[in-house]
Amino acid sequence: MLLFHCRAGFEPDLAAELTVATLEAGAEGRAEYELGQAYVVWIPAPGSHGKGRDWTPDFADLVFARQMLAQCRRVDLPDGADRVTPIVEVAKRLGQRFGAAWIEAPDADRPRQMLAGMRGYTEALQTALAQAKVLGDKRRSARRLHICFLGRDEAVLGVSDPGNSSPWPMGIARVRASENAPSRSGLKLIEALATFIPNEDELLGRMRAGRVAIDLGAAPGGWSQVLASRGVRVLAVDNGPISQAVLDTQLVEHRREDAFRFRPERPVDWMVCDVVAAPARIAALAAQWIERGWCRETIFNLKLPNRNRWQEVLRCHGVIEKTLANVKDSHTLRIKHLYHDREEVTAHLRRL
Ligand SMILES: C[S@@+](CC[C@H](N)C(=O)[O-])C[C@H]1O[C@@H](n2cnc3c(N)ncnc32)[C@H](O)[C@@H]1O
Repeated sequence: MLLFHCRAGFEPDLAAELTVATLEAGAEGRAEYELGQAYVVWIPAPGSHGKGRDWTPDFADLVFARQMLAQCRRVDLPDGADRVTPIVEVAKRLGQRFGAAWIEAPDADRPRQMLAGMRGYTEALQTALAQAKVLGDKRRSARRLHICFLGRDEAVLGVSDPGNSSPWPMGIARVRASENAPSRSGLKLIEALATFIPNEDELLGRMRAGRVAIDLGAAPGGWSQVLASRGVRVLAVDNGPISQAVLDTQLVEHRREDAFRFRPERPVDWMVCDVVAAPARIAALAAQWIERGWCRETIFNLKLPNRNRWQEVLRCHGVIEKTLANVKDSHTLRIKHLYHDREEVTAHLRRL
């Protein structure tokens, strides 16, 4: 069994996505969820062998999953009984040593409140797991043990591989905006960069002083500020005003123009776009920038409808692939529902 964290309300989209991924992998099973519980479990088909039983998707390819736990086992924790030993016993039966134990709950109000009220217990659990030598693998590649409390009397134990999961517990990005940030939007771009280009040296090579970016739909300037904080020169395109603090960086120039008509005078390194418009229109715009060679890579937001979001993501994916079908150089495309995204997803498209 696999358990996937997601934003509450997005379970049907994640379940639809997992069903397609399962079929494409030739695996058998089904997704189970309840609306609003902020997680989806994938149950292998009874009697399925090999691939079906052990199927684990590539986390990076999943749009709506915030975190992925594999090798999951349920543990019942009856009230009044010892609530530490059963978890330690199941953890021992996993037959591995882990780098850390992450104690978590789905990102919905009740489970999160419950977890916040269990501090003494979770500390005792960490100590017991360490004493049982379930923890202690010091390698960077060490797997993590997850203990996810679905309720007071039920937990799921699972395993994540740092190479195929989110680096943050529950996939909740721990990123901070600068003190004078003009909007909280900047957090989205910071999380997007950490998600799509997790290696900081790699990111430094691609986004540093001397690089040039166009920020479409830039006002009030949160994304431009993030780019400028990395030394990038930014042309901020928006009819709305850009915050003075952002202009004061002297790296950001404001242009009052329409994002869909704007053309760069010469090719740039980056285009970012946070314009609120029909998602397929934004997808087509981003693909056009890559196809024409106007930028090397782009990060853009796709604002989704409140139903059938997975289908909308597929549609945008199709628009991009169709636009780039005749481009000789290959490209990479990733789309992710970030922690700081609400009714939207964030995409990264790069020409190689
Ligand atoms: C969500 S806000 C962008 C927030 C910005 N990324 C930040 O971090 O502060 C969307 C912006 O898109 C702009 N916008 C909408 N349609 C546009 C268009 N056709 N051309 C340029 N800007 C547009 C709006 O004026 C608005 O400022």
